[in-house]
Parts: sequence; structure tokens; C-alpha cells
Amino acid sequence: MAGEERIKYLADAVRYHRELYYNHSAPEISDAEFDALWDELKDLDPNNAVLHEVGPEPLPGTEKVEHMFPMRSLDKGTSDDDIIHFVTQSTFGGKRYLAQPKLDGSALSLEYVAGNLYRAATRGSGERGEDVTLNAKLVANVPTRLNSPVDCHVRGEVVMPLAVFEEKYRDISPNPRNLCSGALRQKHGDGKADASDLVFCAYDVKFPNESPDTVNDSELLSWLQGVGIEPAPWEIFSSETPQKEMIEYTSKWGAKRATYEYEIDGIVFKLDNLEQRENLGMTAHHPRWALAWKFPSQEAHSVLLGVDWQTGRTGAVTPVARIAPQMVGGVTVENVTLHNVGEVERLGIKIGDKVKITRRGDVIPKIIENLGEASLSDMQNRYHADGRKFSAELSVQRIQIPKDCPACGRNLVMKGAFLRCMSLECDARTARALTYWCRTLEMDGIGEKLIEALLDNGLVKTIADLYRLSHS
Ligand code: IVH
Repeated sequence: MAGEERIKYLADAVRYHRELYYNHSAPEISDAEFDALWDELKDLDPNNAVLHEVGPEPLPGTEKVEHMFPMRSLDKGTSDDDIIHFVTQSTFGGKRYLAQPKLDGSALSLEYVAGNLYRAATRGSGERGEDVTLNAKLVANVPTRLNSPVDCHVRGEVVMPLAVFEEKYRDISPNPRNLCSGALRQKHGDGKADASDLVFCAYDVKFPNESPDTVNDSELLSWLQGVGIEPAPWEIFSSETPQKEMIEYTSKWGAKRATYEYEIDGIVFKLDNLEQRENLGMTAHHPRWALAWKFPSQEAHSVLLGVDWQTGRTGAVTPVARIAPQMVGGVTVENVTLHNVGEVERLGIKIGDKVKITRRGDVIPKIIENLGEASLSDMQNRYHADGRKFSAELSVQRIQIPKDCPACGRNLVMKGAFLRCMSLECDARTARALTYWCRTLEMDGIGEKLIEALLDNGLVKTIADLYRLSHS
């Protein structure tokens, strides 16, 4: 793809996936894949407008809240060197850093007036979020009244305890994070997660009028505890070489992560001194005084056994790789997305090749590298999910790119890196389009199952048919 075309593709993809993530709580790709798109765009076109927007505006038709204090996103890092670099570029005067686990849920702002909860809002675009006061009040540890008659905006993450997720929601959602924003933004009784199953963990507080007399952010976290709000756990590093302890802290949480009660996807490091933060200021996108360090993704090896093609709502036909079952980060993986034809070509993989797969805290695993033809030993001691042993002979075959839509049989067309079914009558396309339509218009009670039943019985073929349905 030519440079300009690639930039346009990446910018569109970032916007599209950001919209699905924030406004529909229905991501199609993992965080790691999103980050890869973002990083590539940043390399090719650092000033692209998409990179400087925090997120999409909230869905139309919902009550908007202008954030008095914008809710920023943070600069990202993944390596020890990123921590060392962050410390080097942010240290002057004192060296005092605050560290907290990066909770993987949904950001929430709680606005208190004279100590009473007046309004709660999602992050939205960072400048404007959605009013979710009613649902926020259901979150058990969100106090409707503080122990002090103050005006303040408390920021934090709502998360779902993993035990609750396993017990109640495992079947309806791939991960707890998607449920968090869904639960906050739902209309009463639309069948998503219950906001009372969420927990609020604070990480920041802002004051529109008088503020407590504090030097460090950590004093404000203690202040929050005093008024009745529980912050996320934190630790302070203030030695001559804080970077050493900060790196150790990432290892400590890396080990603790698997048994921690909430999902976390990294560590947030912040300069603790509030005046030094002011001095360092912001770039167009993030504050210079903080770093969101993300856990490296979990990796493993497997063997590509076959590829299935699936037609999605937009008509994009996506290859899904079937691999020999393999544990990655505590989960057995058998299906891995290959995204699009471009990705199959980029990796140059064939059936029978050994592949490197990765999985982050979220669920959608991905093939990141082709390690060449699998040897006999790569296939040995591998088992099907039902316990049968694999036969070790797997002949290398090219991946056949389909000419016809796997759902409707009509001809497919190549558009950029994507293979597409252009037929508006394709069932796979229609089912997804209808679900998307109903969700966007917040039509209560119409879910995927009902839509499939309507399609199966020939009652609807297009979105317009929804409006022709009658009771009889
Ligand atoms: S500090 C100026 N601390 O991560 C922004 N953020 O990438 C102050 N997050 O939108 C944010 N845990 O929703 C902070 N302990 C923590 C966090 C945390 C999760 C989220 C937050 C923010 C995103 C930034």
C-alpha cells in the first residue's frame, strides 16, 4: 500500500475501532492490535488529527456532560527502558513517583457538590462524556454523600471483580472490561451487566473551588480515603534511583496479576509533586508527568492447522486461524484472528507452519510471527480439545483465499487489505447490520438471538423490514 493510502487506512481503522470500544462496548480487536495500528500511524504521520483526539464523542441522543477538567489519556510504554526514559525526562528537583496498578475497566468521573453526588459521567471524548449518574449510584462503593461538604471531581476506574465475572457473566462477555462501560451506560433493564456488580477505584481528584493544602498527589489519595472514597492501591518511590524500584514494582505486579481481584493491564507511574506536574505540563495528547506502562503481551508457539473465513457486519471477510490448542496466559487458545487478507500475505504463512501467538489481558489472541514449517517435534505431544492426540503428519498447504462469500456464495471483492462481500442481501452481513442498528438506536429487547430468529423465519431481510413488523 502506498504511504498516503496506508496512513488513511490506519487513521480510519483507529477511528472505527475507537468508536466500537468507547461507544458500543463491543471491540472487534484486542488492545495490542489497537496499539499496533496507533503506533504505526504515529510513526508514519505523527501529526495526524486522529492521534490527538482522546476518543469519540458520546453516542447521540444521550445526555452530555462537559468535563470541567478534561479527562486525559496517558503516554504508553512497555519496556524497562520506557520507565528509565520517563524518569529521565520527568525528573527535576525531587525524584518522587507515585505508582498504581492500571485498572482495566471504564473511567468514571464523580462530581460532588457540597459533599453530595451531583453527577457522574464517562470519559467520552475526554472533553465531553455521558451522564451516567443513575447507574453510578448503583455502584456499591460510590458514596452519594462524602464525609465533608466539599466540591470536587473524583476520577477513577469502575471495574468488575473477576470472581463476579466468572460466576455471572462469563457466558455473555469475553472480558469484564466490556461489561463495565456497558453497565454504566445501559438504559434500565436492557440485559447488560448490573452496575451493582461494579467497584469504583479512585486515582485522581480535582477541585473547582478551594482545594486542600497539599504538595503531593499521594496526600490527595489519603484525603479521598478520609472523605469516604477508596483509591486504587499506591506506592511511592523516592530513592536516588527510583527507576530501579519502579521496574521491580512492575515485576511484583506481573506476578500478582494472575491472582489479583480485578483485571489490570499495566502500571501507571506519576510524578507525585503537584507543582512539578504543572511545570512539566502537557503535549497535545498526554501529560508529560505520567506514564502508562503496559504489561508485555503473553506469547506462545503453536501450529497453524487451517483457516476459516467469516463474513462480518460490514461485509469484511475475515480469516480465522485454527491452531493446535495452546495455553497462553492461563487460557487455552484454538482460534486466532488473522484480520484480513493483507495480514495473511504480510505473515506469509501456510497451513502446517509454526506460529508465534500473543494474548493480552483481553481475549482476542493474534498470530504475530511466522516461524516457518513446523517440525515433527512441534506437532508431538499436542492434543485436540477432546483429548485425541494430533497426527504428526501435517502437509504444508497454501492458504486458499476464497473467491465467494462463505455466507451467501456471491463474488467477493478486494478493497485495500480487505476481502469484502458487497451484497446487501448477504445473511451474515444483514444479521450484523441489524444488530448494530438496533444497538445504536438503543432499541430495548432486540438482541442477536431475536434477529437471527427473524432472519431464519424470513420476517426481515433488511433494516427497513424491521419497521414493517406487526404483532399478528
Ligand atoms: S491516572 C491524566 N491512574 O488509564 C490522566 N489512570 O491511559 C490520569 N487508568 O483514562 C489518569 N488505572 O481510565 C490513572 N491508576 C490509574 C489508572 C488509570 C486505570 C486508566 C484511566 C485513563 C487511562 C489512561
